[in-house]
Amino acid sequence: MQNASAGPVYYKGWYHLFYQYNPDGAIWGNKIAWGHAASRDLLRWRHLPVAMSPDQWYDINGVWSGSATVLPDGRIVMLYTGSTNASVQVQCLAFPTDPSDPLLINWTKYENNPVMYPPPGVGEKDFRDPTTAWFDGSDDTWRLVIGSKDDRHAGMVMTYKTKDFIDYELVPGLLHRVPGTGMWECIDLYPVEGVRGIDMTDAVAAVSTNGADDVLHVMKESSDDDRHDYYALGRYNAAKNTWTPLDVDADADVGVGLRYDWGKFYASKTFYDPAKKRRVLWGWVGETDSERADVAKGWASLQSIPRTVVLDTKTGSNLLQWPVQEVETLRTNSTDLGQVTIDHGSVFPLSLHRATQLDIQASFHIDSLDLAAANEADIGYNCSTSGGAAGRGALGPFGLLVLADARHHGGDAERTAVYFYVSRGLDGGLRTHFCHDETRSSRANDIVKRVVGNTVPVLNGEDLSVRVLVDHSIVESFAMEGRSTVTSRVYPTEAIYANAGVYLFNNATGGRVTATSLIIHEMDSSYNQAYMASM
Ligand code: FRU
Repeated sequence: MQNASAGPVYYKGWYHLFYQYNPDGAIWGNKIAWGHAASRDLLRWRHLPVAMSPDQWYDINGVWSGSATVLPDGRIVMLYTGSTNASVQVQCLAFPTDPSDPLLINWTKYENNPVMYPPPGVGEKDFRDPTTAWFDGSDDTWRLVIGSKDDRHAGMVMTYKTKDFIDYELVPGLLHRVPGTGMWECIDLYPVEGVRGIDMTDAVAAVSTNGADDVLHVMKESSDDDRHDYYALGRYNAAKNTWTPLDVDADADVGVGLRYDWGKFYASKTFYDPAKKRRVLWGWVGETDSERADVAKGWASLQSIPRTVVLDTKTGSNLLQWPVQEVETLRTNSTDLGQVTIDHGSVFPLSLHRATQLDIQASFHIDSLDLAAANEADIGYNCSTSGGAAGRGALGPFGLLVLADARHHGGDAERTAVYFYVSRGLDGGLRTHFCHDETRSSRANDIVKRVVGNTVPVLNGEDLSVRVLVDHSIVESFAMEGRSTVTSRVYPTEAIYANAGVYLFNNATGGRVTATSLIIHEMDSSYNQAYMASM
Protein backbone atom coordinates (compact mmCIF):
# COMPACT_ATOMS: atom_id res chain seq x y z
CA MET A 1 0.00 0.00 0.00
CA GLN A 2 1.01 3.54 -0.56
CA ASN A 3 0.65 6.43 1.83
CA ALA A 4 2.17 9.86 2.34
CA SER A 5 4.56 11.10 -0.29
CA ALA A 6 8.08 11.79 0.84
CA GLY A 7 11.01 13.69 -0.59
CA PRO A 8 9.60 14.73 -3.99
CA VAL A 9 12.42 16.22 -6.02
CA TYR A 10 13.51 17.09 -9.55
CA TYR A 11 16.95 15.72 -10.43
CA LYS A 12 18.78 15.61 -13.74
CA GLY A 13 15.63 15.72 -15.88
CA TRP A 14 13.55 13.33 -13.75
CA TYR A 15 10.79 13.95 -11.25
CA HIS A 16 11.06 11.61 -8.29
CA LEU A 17 8.34 10.50 -5.96
CA PHE A 18 9.16 8.56 -2.86
CA TYR A 19 6.25 7.37 -0.79
CA GLN A 20 5.32 5.40 2.31
CA TYR A 21 5.07 1.81 1.18
CA ASN A 22 4.27 -1.44 2.95
CA PRO A 23 5.79 -4.27 0.89
CA ASP A 24 3.89 -6.82 3.00
CA GLY A 25 0.35 -5.83 2.19
CA ALA A 26 -2.37 -3.39 1.26
CA ILE A 27 -2.58 -1.84 4.74
CA TRP A 28 -0.25 0.34 6.82
CA GLY A 29 2.21 -1.62 8.97
CA ASN A 30 5.39 -1.45 11.02
CA LYS A 31 7.70 -2.21 8.12
CA ILE A 32 7.12 0.96 6.12
CA ALA A 33 9.76 1.50 3.44
CA TRP A 34 10.30 4.18 0.81
CA GLY A 35 8.65 3.20 -2.45
CA HIS A 36 10.06 5.03 -5.44
CA ALA A 37 8.91 6.07 -8.91
CA ALA A 38 10.34 8.51 -11.44
CA SER A 39 8.94 10.36 -14.42
CA ARG A 40 10.11 12.82 -17.04
CA ASP A 41 6.71 14.48 -17.45
CA LEU A 42 4.78 13.93 -14.19
CA LEU A 43 2.38 11.72 -16.19
CA ARG A 44 4.09 8.47 -17.14
CA TRP A 45 5.82 6.86 -14.20
CA ARG A 46 8.45 4.23 -14.00
CA HIS A 47 8.28 2.13 -10.84
CA LEU A 48 11.72 1.67 -9.31
CA PRO A 49 13.08 -0.58 -6.57
CA VAL A 50 12.37 0.30 -2.95
CA ALA A 51 14.73 3.17 -2.13
CA MET A 52 15.11 2.57 1.61
CA SER A 53 13.96 -0.24 3.88
CA PRO A 54 13.69 -0.40 7.67
CA ASP A 55 16.95 -2.26 8.36
CA GLN A 56 18.78 -0.26 11.06
CA TRP A 57 18.11 0.06 14.80
CA TYR A 58 17.10 3.70 14.26
CA ASP A 59 14.48 2.98 11.55
CA ILE A 60 13.63 -0.69 12.10
CA ASN A 61 10.01 0.23 12.89
CA GLY A 62 9.64 2.32 9.75
CA VAL A 63 11.35 4.59 7.26
CA TRP A 64 8.80 7.37 7.50
CA SER A 65 8.15 10.58 5.64
CA GLY A 66 10.83 13.14 4.92
CA SER A 67 12.10 15.67 2.41
CA ALA A 68 14.84 16.28 -0.12
CA THR A 69 17.07 19.33 -0.13
CA VAL A 70 19.08 20.15 -3.24
CA LEU A 71 22.39 21.83 -2.33
CA PRO A 72 23.80 24.66 -4.49
CA ASP A 73 26.24 22.21 -6.09
CA GLY A 74 23.35 19.95 -7.12
CA ARG A 75 23.83 17.22 -4.53
CA ILE A 76 20.78 15.87 -2.74
CA VAL A 77 20.48 15.53 1.01
CA MET A 78 17.54 13.42 2.16
CA LEU A 79 16.18 13.74 5.69
CA TYR A 80 13.57 11.29 6.96
CA THR A 81 12.00 10.14 10.18
CA GLY A 82 13.05 6.78 11.53
CA SER A 83 10.95 4.90 14.06
CA THR A 84 13.59 3.21 16.24
CA ASN A 85 13.67 -0.25 17.82
CA ALA A 86 11.99 1.44 20.82
CA SER A 87 9.51 3.29 18.54
CA VAL A 88 11.13 6.66 19.21
CA GLN A 89 10.87 9.13 16.32
CA VAL A 90 14.31 10.35 15.23
CA GLN A 91 15.55 12.18 12.14
CA CYS A 92 17.97 10.45 9.81
CA LEU A 93 20.12 11.38 6.87
CA ALA A 94 20.62 9.59 3.54
CA PHE A 95 22.37 10.33 0.24
CA PRO A 96 22.17 9.00 -3.30
CA THR A 97 24.80 6.27 -3.55
CA ASP A 98 25.58 7.25 -7.12
CA PRO A 99 24.90 10.95 -7.75
CA SER A 100 25.53 10.43 -11.47
CA ASP A 101 22.46 8.15 -11.69
CA PRO A 102 19.51 10.34 -12.71
CA LEU A 103 17.15 7.60 -11.52
CA LEU A 104 18.59 7.77 -7.99
CA ILE A 105 18.07 4.06 -7.54
CA ASN A 106 20.41 3.37 -4.61
CA TRP A 107 20.49 5.22 -1.31
CA THR A 108 23.11 5.20 1.45
CA LYS A 109 22.09 5.98 5.00
CA TYR A 110 24.51 8.15 6.98
CA GLU A 111 26.73 6.01 9.19
CA ASN A 112 26.16 8.04 12.35
CA ASN A 113 22.37 8.24 12.15
CA PRO A 114 20.23 9.46 13.78
CA VAL A 115 21.06 13.14 13.56
CA MET A 116 18.17 14.47 15.68
CA TYR A 117 16.33 13.14 18.73
CA PRO A 118 13.11 14.53 20.22
CA PRO A 119 14.17 17.58 22.28
CA PRO A 120 13.31 17.83 26.01
CA GLY A 121 9.59 18.24 26.56
CA VAL A 122 8.62 16.73 23.18
CA GLY A 123 6.99 13.29 23.13
CA GLU A 124 9.04 10.44 21.69
CA LYS A 125 6.26 9.68 19.26
CA ASP A 126 5.50 13.30 18.36
CA PHE A 127 8.55 14.33 16.37
CA ARG A 128 8.37 13.62 12.67
CA ASP A 129 8.46 14.57 8.99
CA PRO A 130 11.34 17.06 8.49
CA THR A 131 10.80 19.61 5.69
CA THR A 132 13.09 20.59 2.86
CA ALA A 133 15.84 22.84 4.25
CA TRP A 134 16.52 26.35 2.98
CA PHE A 135 19.69 28.40 3.20
CA ASP A 136 19.75 31.61 5.20
CA GLY A 137 22.68 33.88 4.31
CA SER A 138 22.25 36.02 7.43
CA ASP A 139 24.02 33.37 9.49
CA ASP A 140 25.15 30.98 6.76
CA THR A 141 23.05 28.11 8.03
CA TRP A 142 20.34 25.86 6.66
CA ARG A 143 17.00 25.80 8.42
CA LEU A 144 14.20 23.29 8.41
CA VAL A 145 11.11 22.66 10.47
CA ILE A 146 9.58 19.62 12.16
CA GLY A 147 6.01 19.13 13.37
CA SER A 148 4.86 18.04 16.79
CA LYS A 149 2.23 18.64 19.44
CA ASP A 150 2.54 19.71 23.04
CA ASP A 151 1.06 18.15 26.17
CA ARG A 152 -2.02 20.38 25.84
CA HIS A 153 -2.87 19.03 22.37
CA ALA A 154 -1.65 22.12 20.50
CA GLY A 155 -0.06 21.48 17.11
CA MET A 156 3.36 23.09 16.84
CA VAL A 157 6.35 23.66 14.60
CA MET A 158 10.00 23.68 15.69
CA THR A 159 12.86 25.17 13.67
CA TYR A 160 16.32 23.61 13.47
CA LYS A 161 19.53 25.16 12.14
CA THR A 162 22.46 23.29 10.65
CA LYS A 163 25.63 24.07 8.74
CA ASP A 164 26.44 20.55 7.59
CA PHE A 165 23.21 18.49 7.98
CA ILE A 166 25.01 16.49 10.68
CA ASP A 167 24.85 18.77 13.71
CA TYR A 168 21.57 20.54 14.38
CA GLU A 169 20.62 23.27 16.78
CA LEU A 170 17.04 23.81 17.94
CA VAL A 171 16.14 27.49 17.41
CA PRO A 172 14.61 28.84 20.66
CA GLY A 173 10.86 29.38 20.66
CA LEU A 174 8.27 27.83 18.36
CA LEU A 175 7.77 28.91 14.77
CA HIS A 176 4.04 28.45 15.27
CA ARG A 177 1.52 26.79 17.58
CA VAL A 178 -2.24 26.40 17.33
CA PRO A 179 -4.23 25.19 20.36
CA GLY A 180 -6.53 22.20 19.98
CA THR A 181 -5.20 20.95 16.65
CA GLY A 182 -3.19 17.92 17.82
CA MET A 183 -0.20 16.36 16.10
CA TRP A 184 0.97 18.18 12.96
CA GLU A 185 2.27 15.74 10.37
CA CYS A 186 4.08 16.46 7.10
CA ILE A 187 4.54 20.22 7.68
CA ASP A 188 5.22 22.30 4.61
CA LEU A 189 6.47 25.90 4.57
CA TYR A 190 7.00 27.75 1.30
CA PRO A 191 6.76 31.17 -0.37
CA VAL A 192 3.98 31.90 -2.89
CA GLU A 193 3.47 34.43 -5.64
CA GLY A 194 0.80 35.00 -8.23
CA VAL A 195 2.28 33.37 -11.31
CA ARG A 196 5.46 31.47 -10.72
CA GLY A 197 6.72 29.31 -7.94
CA ILE A 198 9.68 30.39 -5.83
CA ASP A 199 12.26 28.40 -4.03
CA MET A 200 12.38 29.00 -0.28
CA THR A 201 16.11 29.81 -0.31
CA ASP A 202 15.59 32.45 -3.03
CA ALA A 203 12.69 34.01 -1.15
CA VAL A 204 14.71 34.27 2.07
CA ALA A 205 17.58 35.87 0.11
CA ALA A 206 15.19 38.36 -1.54
CA VAL A 207 13.79 39.37 1.83
CA SER A 208 17.22 39.94 3.35
CA THR A 209 18.60 41.90 0.34
CA ASN A 210 15.52 44.04 -0.35
CA GLY A 211 14.14 44.10 3.15
CA ALA A 212 10.91 43.12 1.41
CA ASP A 213 8.53 41.50 3.80
CA ASP A 214 5.71 41.27 1.31
CA VAL A 215 6.43 37.68 0.34
CA LEU A 216 3.68 35.45 1.62
CA HIS A 217 4.49 32.04 3.02
CA VAL A 218 2.15 29.09 3.18
CA MET A 219 2.23 26.97 6.28
CA LYS A 220 0.54 23.60 5.90
CA GLU A 221 0.02 20.76 8.32
CA SER A 222 -1.57 17.36 7.99
CA SER A 223 -3.79 16.99 11.00
CA ASP A 224 -3.48 13.57 12.58
CA ASP A 225 -6.73 14.27 14.48
CA ASP A 226 -9.03 14.47 11.46
CA ARG A 227 -6.73 13.46 8.59
CA HIS A 228 -7.08 16.64 6.53
CA ASP A 229 -4.43 18.96 5.10
CA TYR A 230 -4.84 22.49 6.41
CA TYR A 231 -3.04 25.62 5.32
CA ALA A 232 -2.92 29.34 5.95
CA LEU A 233 -1.15 32.26 4.31
CA GLY A 234 1.21 34.24 6.48
CA ARG A 235 4.53 35.97 6.87
CA TYR A 236 7.75 34.26 7.81
CA ASN A 237 10.37 36.20 9.76
CA ALA A 238 13.64 34.29 9.86
CA ALA A 239 15.39 36.61 12.32
CA LYS A 240 12.58 36.37 14.85
CA ASN A 241 11.78 32.74 14.01
CA THR A 242 8.10 33.51 13.62
CA TRP A 243 5.41 32.79 11.09
CA THR A 244 2.33 34.97 11.52
CA PRO A 245 -0.98 34.27 9.80
CA LEU A 246 -2.24 36.96 7.44
CA ASP A 247 -5.70 36.72 8.90
CA VAL A 248 -5.41 36.79 12.66
CA ASP A 249 -8.93 35.47 13.26
CA ALA A 250 -8.60 32.40 15.43
CA ASP A 251 -10.75 30.43 12.97
CA ALA A 252 -8.50 31.22 10.00
CA ASP A 253 -5.26 29.81 11.39
CA VAL A 254 -3.46 26.66 10.27
CA GLY A 255 -5.42 23.58 11.27
CA VAL A 256 -8.77 25.28 11.65
CA GLY A 257 -9.40 27.24 8.45
CA LEU A 258 -8.57 26.52 4.84
CA ARG A 259 -7.89 23.08 3.48
CA TYR A 260 -6.03 22.09 0.36
CA ASP A 261 -8.88 19.78 -0.59
CA TRP A 262 -12.31 19.13 0.94
CA GLY A 263 -12.42 15.47 -0.02
CA LYS A 264 -9.99 12.58 0.38
CA PHE A 265 -6.49 14.08 0.32
CA TYR A 266 -3.84 13.81 3.01
CA ALA A 267 -0.14 13.98 3.90
CA SER A 268 0.64 16.02 0.79
CA LYS A 269 3.94 17.67 0.00
CA THR A 270 5.16 20.33 -2.39
CA PHE A 271 8.47 20.75 -4.15
CA TYR A 272 9.97 23.51 -6.24
CA ASP A 273 10.43 22.49 -9.87
CA PRO A 274 13.44 24.42 -11.17
CA ALA A 275 12.84 23.23 -14.76
CA LYS A 276 9.44 24.91 -15.05
CA LYS A 277 9.83 27.41 -12.21
CA ARG A 278 6.72 26.26 -10.43
CA ARG A 279 5.73 24.78 -7.12
CA VAL A 280 4.11 21.39 -7.45
CA LEU A 281 1.84 19.82 -4.85
CA TRP A 282 0.57 16.30 -4.61
CA GLY A 283 -1.20 14.33 -1.99
CA TRP A 284 -2.05 10.86 -0.90
CA VAL A 285 -5.57 9.85 -1.91
CA GLY A 286 -6.50 6.83 0.15
CA GLU A 287 -9.24 4.28 -0.37
CA THR A 288 -12.74 4.80 0.97
CA ASP A 289 -13.74 1.18 0.60
CA SER A 290 -13.10 -1.38 3.34
CA GLU A 291 -9.69 -2.65 4.39
CA ARG A 292 -10.96 -6.11 3.51
CA ALA A 293 -11.59 -5.00 -0.07
CA ASP A 294 -8.08 -3.52 -0.25
CA VAL A 295 -6.50 -6.73 0.96
CA ALA A 296 -8.56 -8.67 -1.58
CA LYS A 297 -7.56 -6.44 -4.48
CA GLY A 298 -3.95 -6.39 -3.26
CA TRP A 299 -3.27 -2.68 -3.39
CA ALA A 300 -4.43 0.57 -1.84
CA SER A 301 -4.18 4.30 -2.40
CA LEU A 302 -3.41 6.69 -5.25
CA GLN A 303 -1.26 9.74 -5.60
CA SER A 304 -3.26 12.79 -6.73
CA ILE A 305 -2.61 14.45 -10.07
CA PRO A 306 0.29 16.85 -9.41
CA ARG A 307 -0.99 20.41 -8.98
CA THR A 308 0.76 23.73 -9.45
CA VAL A 309 0.24 26.08 -6.53
CA VAL A 310 0.16 29.87 -6.77
CA LEU A 311 -1.33 32.70 -4.75
CA ASP A 312 -4.79 33.85 -5.81
CA THR A 313 -3.96 37.52 -6.43
CA LYS A 314 -7.64 38.34 -7.06
CA THR A 315 -8.79 37.40 -3.58
CA GLY A 316 -5.41 37.61 -1.87
CA SER A 317 -6.68 35.15 0.71
CA ASN A 318 -6.30 31.67 -0.74
CA LEU A 319 -4.16 29.51 -3.00
CA LEU A 320 -4.99 28.39 -6.50
CA GLN A 321 -4.31 24.74 -7.27
CA TRP A 322 -4.41 23.53 -10.85
CA PRO A 323 -3.46 20.25 -12.56
CA VAL A 324 0.06 20.58 -13.99
CA GLN A 325 -0.04 21.71 -17.63
CA GLU A 326 1.31 18.34 -18.79
CA VAL A 327 -2.12 16.82 -18.07
CA GLU A 328 -3.53 18.77 -21.05
CA THR A 329 -1.32 16.79 -23.42
CA LEU A 330 -3.48 13.74 -22.67
CA ARG A 331 -6.60 15.34 -24.16
CA THR A 332 -8.15 13.61 -27.17
CA ASN A 333 -11.61 13.69 -28.76
CA SER A 334 -12.65 17.05 -27.38
CA THR A 335 -16.34 17.91 -27.52
CA ASP A 336 -17.39 21.54 -27.24
CA LEU A 337 -21.01 21.53 -26.20
CA GLY A 338 -21.28 25.32 -26.30
CA GLN A 339 -24.13 26.84 -24.35
CA VAL A 340 -26.65 24.59 -22.69
CA THR A 341 -29.52 25.89 -20.61
CA ILE A 342 -30.78 23.62 -17.87
CA ASP A 343 -34.21 24.31 -16.44
CA HIS A 344 -34.86 23.80 -12.79
CA GLY A 345 -35.58 20.23 -11.89
CA SER A 346 -34.04 18.82 -15.05
CA VAL A 347 -31.28 16.45 -16.05
CA PHE A 348 -29.57 16.58 -19.42
CA PRO A 349 -27.56 13.62 -20.77
CA LEU A 350 -24.39 14.40 -22.73
CA SER A 351 -23.57 12.17 -25.59
CA LEU A 352 -20.00 11.01 -25.33
CA HIS A 353 -17.97 8.24 -26.81
CA ARG A 354 -16.34 7.16 -23.56
CA ALA A 355 -16.80 8.69 -20.15
CA THR A 356 -14.50 6.82 -17.80
CA GLN A 357 -11.49 9.11 -18.26
CA LEU A 358 -12.35 12.76 -18.80
CA ASP A 359 -11.04 16.25 -18.40
CA ILE A 360 -14.11 18.50 -18.16
CA GLN A 361 -14.17 22.30 -18.20
CA ALA A 362 -17.51 23.87 -17.35
CA SER A 363 -18.79 27.36 -16.52
CA PHE A 364 -22.25 28.13 -15.23
CA HIS A 365 -24.32 31.25 -15.07
CA ILE A 366 -27.44 31.55 -12.96
CA ASP A 367 -29.95 33.29 -15.22
CA SER A 368 -32.29 34.30 -12.43
CA LEU A 369 -29.81 35.50 -9.90
CA ASP A 370 -32.00 38.37 -8.83
CA LEU A 371 -32.84 39.68 -5.44
CA ALA A 372 -36.02 37.67 -5.15
CA ALA A 373 -34.21 34.41 -5.66
CA ALA A 374 -31.41 35.51 -3.38
CA ASN A 375 -33.91 36.24 -0.66
CA GLU A 376 -35.24 32.76 -0.96
CA ALA A 377 -31.78 31.20 -0.84
CA ASP A 378 -31.50 29.35 2.40
CA ILE A 379 -29.26 30.43 5.20
CA GLY A 380 -26.39 28.41 6.55
CA TYR A 381 -25.98 25.73 3.88
CA ASN A 382 -23.25 23.20 4.52
CA CYS A 383 -22.26 20.60 1.92
CA SER A 384 -21.58 17.84 4.40
CA THR A 385 -24.86 18.12 6.31
CA SER A 386 -26.95 18.90 3.24
CA GLY A 387 -29.11 16.59 1.19
CA GLY A 388 -26.44 16.61 -1.53
CA ALA A 389 -27.58 16.62 -5.14
CA ALA A 390 -31.05 15.49 -4.11
CA GLY A 391 -31.66 18.38 -1.73
CA ARG A 392 -33.42 21.35 -3.38
CA GLY A 393 -32.94 25.06 -2.83
CA ALA A 394 -33.67 28.31 -4.66
CA LEU A 395 -30.21 28.50 -6.26
CA GLY A 396 -28.92 24.97 -6.33
CA PRO A 397 -27.74 22.31 -6.48
CA PHE A 398 -26.66 22.30 -10.14
CA GLY A 399 -23.66 20.94 -11.98
CA LEU A 400 -22.53 17.60 -13.38
CA LEU A 401 -23.14 13.94 -12.72
CA VAL A 402 -20.01 11.96 -13.60
CA LEU A 403 -19.33 8.24 -13.59
CA ALA A 404 -23.09 8.17 -13.91
CA ASP A 405 -25.06 5.28 -15.35
CA ALA A 406 -25.49 6.22 -19.01
CA ARG A 407 -28.53 3.97 -19.42
CA HIS A 408 -30.78 5.66 -16.90
CA HIS A 409 -30.64 8.33 -14.25
CA GLY A 410 -32.45 9.06 -11.04
CA GLY A 411 -33.53 6.57 -8.42
CA ASP A 412 -30.56 4.64 -7.21
CA ALA A 413 -28.66 4.73 -10.54
CA GLU A 414 -24.99 5.22 -9.86
CA ARG A 415 -23.58 8.74 -10.22
CA THR A 416 -21.21 11.14 -8.50
CA ALA A 417 -22.54 14.68 -8.37
CA VAL A 418 -20.14 17.61 -8.74
CA TYR A 419 -22.17 20.70 -7.96
CA PHE A 420 -22.57 24.30 -6.93
CA TYR A 421 -25.12 25.57 -4.45
CA VAL A 422 -25.70 29.24 -3.70
CA SER A 423 -27.03 30.08 -0.27
CA ARG A 424 -27.27 33.10 1.94
CA GLY A 425 -24.85 33.81 4.77
CA LEU A 426 -25.95 35.06 8.16
CA ASP A 427 -25.02 38.56 6.99
CA GLY A 428 -27.50 38.29 4.09
CA GLY A 429 -24.78 38.07 1.41
CA LEU A 430 -24.64 35.22 -1.08
CA ARG A 431 -22.32 32.27 -0.47
CA THR A 432 -21.29 29.81 -3.13
CA HIS A 433 -20.64 26.24 -2.10
CA PHE A 434 -18.83 23.67 -4.15
CA CYS A 435 -19.51 20.06 -3.26
CA HIS A 436 -19.23 16.42 -4.31
CA ASP A 437 -22.10 14.10 -3.48
CA GLU A 438 -20.71 10.57 -3.23
CA THR A 439 -23.80 9.06 -1.66
CA ARG A 440 -25.01 7.48 -4.95
CA SER A 441 -21.55 6.82 -6.35
CA SER A 442 -21.71 3.06 -5.92
CA ARG A 443 -24.14 0.28 -5.14
CA ALA A 444 -21.44 -1.38 -3.04
CA ASN A 445 -22.15 -1.04 0.65
CA ASP A 446 -18.68 -1.29 2.20
CA ILE A 447 -17.79 2.26 1.16
CA VAL A 448 -17.69 5.55 3.05
CA LYS A 449 -19.98 7.80 0.99
CA ARG A 450 -20.38 11.42 1.96
CA VAL A 451 -21.25 14.85 0.71
CA VAL A 452 -18.05 16.90 0.92
CA GLY A 453 -17.06 20.44 0.01
CA ASN A 454 -17.04 23.98 1.28
CA THR A 455 -17.68 27.58 0.33
CA VAL A 456 -15.63 28.95 -2.54
CA PRO A 457 -14.91 32.65 -3.12
CA VAL A 458 -16.73 34.14 -6.14
CA LEU A 459 -16.02 37.76 -7.06
CA ASN A 460 -18.45 40.16 -8.69
CA GLY A 461 -19.25 39.22 -12.27
CA GLU A 462 -17.55 35.84 -12.19
CA ASP A 463 -19.34 32.80 -13.60
CA LEU A 464 -19.11 29.60 -11.60
CA SER A 465 -16.44 27.44 -13.17
CA VAL A 466 -15.03 24.02 -12.52
CA ARG A 467 -12.52 21.64 -14.04
CA VAL A 468 -13.17 17.98 -13.28
CA LEU A 469 -10.72 15.14 -13.85
CA VAL A 470 -12.43 11.76 -13.93
CA ASP A 471 -10.53 8.47 -13.98
CA HIS A 472 -12.47 5.28 -13.23
CA SER A 473 -12.36 5.42 -9.42
CA ILE A 474 -11.29 8.99 -8.74
CA VAL A 475 -12.85 12.40 -9.35
CA GLU A 476 -10.68 15.47 -8.74
CA SER A 477 -12.42 18.83 -9.08
CA PHE A 478 -10.92 22.31 -9.19
CA ALA A 479 -13.56 25.00 -8.66
CA MET A 480 -13.12 28.68 -9.52
CA GLU A 481 -9.68 28.29 -11.13
CA GLY A 482 -8.55 26.15 -8.21
CA ARG A 483 -9.67 28.26 -5.24
CA SER A 484 -11.29 25.14 -3.86
CA THR A 485 -10.61 21.51 -4.71
CA VAL A 486 -12.46 18.31 -3.89
CA THR A 487 -11.22 14.76 -4.46
CA SER A 488 -13.44 11.70 -4.20
CA ARG A 489 -12.72 8.01 -4.53
CA VAL A 490 -15.73 6.25 -6.00
CA TYR A 491 -16.36 2.63 -6.82
CA PRO A 492 -19.08 2.33 -9.43
CA THR A 493 -20.23 -1.22 -10.11
CA GLU A 494 -22.52 -0.50 -13.09
CA ALA A 495 -21.53 2.95 -14.35
CA ILE A 496 -18.32 1.52 -15.75
CA TYR A 497 -16.70 1.32 -19.19
CA ALA A 498 -19.33 1.81 -21.93
CA ASN A 499 -22.06 2.28 -19.32
CA ALA A 500 -20.43 5.33 -17.75
CA GLY A 501 -21.93 8.66 -18.74
CA VAL A 502 -22.09 12.35 -17.88
CA TYR A 503 -25.20 14.47 -17.25
CA LEU A 504 -25.82 18.12 -16.56
CA PHE A 505 -28.35 18.72 -13.82
CA ASN A 506 -30.14 21.57 -12.15
CA ASN A 507 -32.10 20.54 -9.10
CA ALA A 508 -32.96 24.05 -7.93
CA THR A 509 -36.63 24.74 -7.21
CA GLY A 510 -36.79 27.72 -9.56
CA GLY A 511 -34.82 29.51 -12.22
CA ARG A 512 -32.54 28.44 -14.99
CA VAL A 513 -28.85 27.79 -15.13
CA THR A 514 -26.86 28.11 -18.33
CA ALA A 515 -23.68 26.20 -18.87
CA THR A 516 -21.98 29.12 -20.64
CA SER A 517 -19.19 26.86 -21.77
CA LEU A 518 -18.77 23.14 -21.58
CA ILE A 519 -15.84 21.31 -23.07
CA ILE A 520 -15.27 17.65 -22.46
CA HIS A 521 -11.97 16.05 -23.37
CA GLU A 522 -11.47 12.35 -23.33
CA MET A 523 -8.18 11.44 -21.73
CA ASP A 524 -5.62 9.31 -23.43
CA SER A 525 -5.48 5.89 -21.80
CA SER A 526 -1.84 6.41 -20.87
CA TYR A 527 -3.44 8.60 -18.24
CA ASN A 528 -3.86 5.32 -16.38
CA GLN A 529 -0.23 5.49 -15.59
CA ALA A 530 -0.53 9.00 -14.22
CA TYR A 531 -2.12 7.58 -11.13
CA MET A 532 0.18 5.24 -9.38
CA ALA A 533 -1.63 2.36 -7.87
CA SER A 534 0.89 0.30 -6.00
CA MET A 535 0.93 -2.87 -4.01
C1 FRU B 1 1.43 10.57 7.55
C2 FRU B 1 2.42 9.83 8.38
C3 FRU B 1 3.64 10.61 8.71
C4 FRU B 1 4.66 9.54 8.96
C5 FRU B 1 4.22 8.45 8.01
C6 FRU B 1 4.28 7.09 8.59
O1 FRU B 1 0.31 9.78 7.27
O2 FRU B 1 1.83 9.35 9.57
O3 FRU B 1 3.51 11.46 9.81
O4 FRU B 1 5.93 10.01 8.65
O5 FRU B 1 2.89 8.71 7.65
O6 FRU B 1 4.00 6.13 7.62
